[in-house]
Amino acid sequence: MQPPAELPRRSFLDFVLGFGFFSTALAMLYPVARYLVPPPGGEPPTANVVVARLADMAPNTGRNFKIGNGPALLIRTPEGELRAFNAVCTHLDCTVQYQPDASRIWCACHDGVFGLGGNVVSGPPPRPLERLTVNVRGEPGSEDIVVSRV
Ligand code: FES
Repeated sequence: MQPPAELPRRSFLDFVLGFGFFSTALAMLYPVARYLVPPPGGEPPTANVVVARLADMAPNTGRNFKIGNGPALLIRTPEGELRAFNAVCTHLDCTVQYQPDASRIWCACHDGVFGLGGNVVSGPPPRPLERLTVNVRGEPGSEDIVVSRV
């Protein structure tokens, strides 16, 4: 026959061990759950960015900017046409830039070269750059260049 004082001590030890096990399991599972279910928010899929005034973008120029959380590139071709791209290189995610002297889009990381349509010209990039939508809005003489992901 057990003395009555043993039962509360055993229960207490069971509770402490159970609580420790539960706490350890929770501490291990919480980061995994947070990784698998990202928090709501982030960039809206149709974010519009006013990049520049049309008058400030001379032909054969480029401008890097941010859209949402990522880099983007607006270029005005030597012929005056506006084009915008996701500036993340399709090789290993470096940021591309416009080279006016060669009229091309260039990735400095591994010498990847893209044409003015975002197509791969040379180097290791496997795919063209993602094209973004460009709109010109506003009154004549003070038009804004607006880029969106739509
Ligand atoms: S990351 Fe652009 S060429 Fe390698």
